[in-house]
Amino acid sequence: MGMSTNDHTLRVYDSIIGLLSSEDNPTPLVRLHKVVPFSHTQVFAKLEWYNPFGAVKDRVAANMIRDAEDRGVLEAGKKLVEATSGNTGLGLAMVGNAKGYALRTPLSLAIPLEKRTVLRFFGADLVELDDSLCPAPGAPEGAIALAMETADTQPDFVLLNQYENEANPDSHYRTTGPEIWKQTQGTVTHFVAGLGTCGTITGTGKFLKEQRDAVQVLGVHPEDGHDIPGVRSLRQLSQTKLFRPEQYDGTTEVTNREAFDLCLRLNREESIIAGPSSGMALAGALKMVPDEPGNVVVVVFPDNVFKYASSFQRHFPYICPGDKKDGDDSGPSQADIFLGEMMENLKNPHDSVRVKELNEQLGSTEKPLVIDVRPPDFYEKNRIPGSINIPEDDLAKRASELPSDRDAAIVMVCGIGKFSKSTVLYLKSMGYRNARSMKGGINEWVRKGFATESS
Ligand SMILES: Cc1ncc(COP(=O)(O)O)c(C=O)c1O
Repeated sequence: MGMSTNDHTLRVYDSIIGLLSSEDNPTPLVRLHKVVPFSHTQVFAKLEWYNPFGAVKDRVAANMIRDAEDRGVLEAGKKLVEATSGNTGLGLAMVGNAKGYALRTPLSLAIPLEKRTVLRFFGADLVELDDSLCPAPGAPEGAIALAMETADTQPDFVLLNQYENEANPDSHYRTTGPEIWKQTQGTVTHFVAGLGTCGTITGTGKFLKEQRDAVQVLGVHPEDGHDIPGVRSLRQLSQTKLFRPEQYDGTTEVTNREAFDLCLRLNREESIIAGPSSGMALAGALKMVPDEPGNVVVVVFPDNVFKYASSFQRHFPYICPGDKKDGDDSGPSQADIFLGEMMENLKNPHDSVRVKELNEQLGSTEKPLVIDVRPPDFYEKNRIPGSINIPEDDLAKRASELPSDRDAAIVMVCGIGKFSKSTVLYLKSMGYRNARSMKGGINEWVRKGFATESS
C-alpha cells in the first residue's frame, strides 16, 4: 500500500495547497498567560502564520481564486492584479504559482522592504506607489485605483479585489469560524479580530453567531496615522465595503504604542512570534472583554514578526538599532537618537496643517507657498492649484528656488502626508521658521473634494 497523502494526522500532503487550513487542519489555538491581566477569563491566540505562506490571508487568496475559477472568470493564461498591504499579495503569489497565475501587485512604498522583497522573491510584479500602508480606499492614484484600471484596460488581467469580494469573508465563514467552534468545543464566548478589509471579523463572526448568537464579535482598529501593516483606521474603515459594524458587538481603537509594546511582550514573555497587528488585536481584546468565569476569548493573530524588522527598528531604536560600523557596539548612535527625537517632534501640531485650513488660507491674502514634493508625473496628473513642483530628491539642488525670506509661509505636500514631513525637517535645517506639512497629503485634499488642476 503506497503513502497516504493529504493526511492531516500524519501531515503528509500531495502539494502545498493541501496544507491550507480548514476544520480538519486548523491553525493552532494557544492560551496566553503572562500578558493577560485576568484571573478568570481565558484568552487564546489563533496563530495564522501556520498557514502555508505565513499569514491569515492565505485562506482568502485560495478562496478568491477557487471562487473565480468556479465562476469562470479565472482560467489558464489569465493573470492576477491585486492591491495589497502585503499578505494577500504573498498568498495570491504562492497559490498563483501553484495554479499557474502570474500576479501584478500595486502597493505602497511604506510597506516594509522585507515584505516587498519577499513578494518579489515569490515572483510578483510589484508597482510601488505613494499610498498608505493599507491601500487608502478612494485614493485616485492609489494602489486600488491602479489595480482597477489595469483590470479594466487589460483583458488578460483579473482583479479579485479583496476589499469588495464576498469570497474574502466567505473564506473565514468556511474555515476560521468552524475551526474555532470545533477547537473550543463550542465554548467560545468572545471572538476578537483586527480590522483591515474586515473579511476575518465579518466571515468568522457570521459563522460563530449562527452557532450561538451570544458569542461576542469584537473588532479592533488602529489610530489615524498608524504604521501597522494590514489594518485600517476608523476613517479608512468608513469606506470599507466589508466593514459591517451592525453585525459586531463592539469595536475599539488602539494606539501604535500600545500595539507595538504588547507585540514585544508577546514575543518576550509568551515566546509567541506575533506581528504588530496581533499586538494591536490583543490590546483591543484586553480593553473590551471583562474578567469573568466562563469567558473563553479567541483573538486572531494574523502573521508573525519576521516581516517587520524595519518597523521594530523604528519603534524600538534602543532594542533594535540599525547597522553599526564594524566593532562599534555602543547601541544607537547619538545621530540616530537625535534624528528619532526630531522626527518625533515633527509630529507636533504646529508643523502640520489640515487640508481644510490650507484651503481657507489659499483663499486669503496671506496665502502660503505650496510646494508639491511628489514626482512630476503625479504632480501633472492632479495638484493643488498654484502649487509648484520640487520633487523631494531635488530639494537640495533646487534650494535656490525657495523664498529668500526665512519667515515665508511654506506648506509641503506629498501623496499621503508622510514624505512631506521629512522635507519640512529639511527646510527647518535651512532656517525656514514657518514651514509645515499638509496632513493626509493629496489623498486627503481630493477626498475632501477641494479643487485640483492637472496638465
Ligand atoms: C497583518 C495583518 N493584520 C490584520 C489584517 C486584517 O485582516 P482583514 O483584512 O481580514 O480584516 C491583515 C489583512 O491584510 C493583515 O495583513
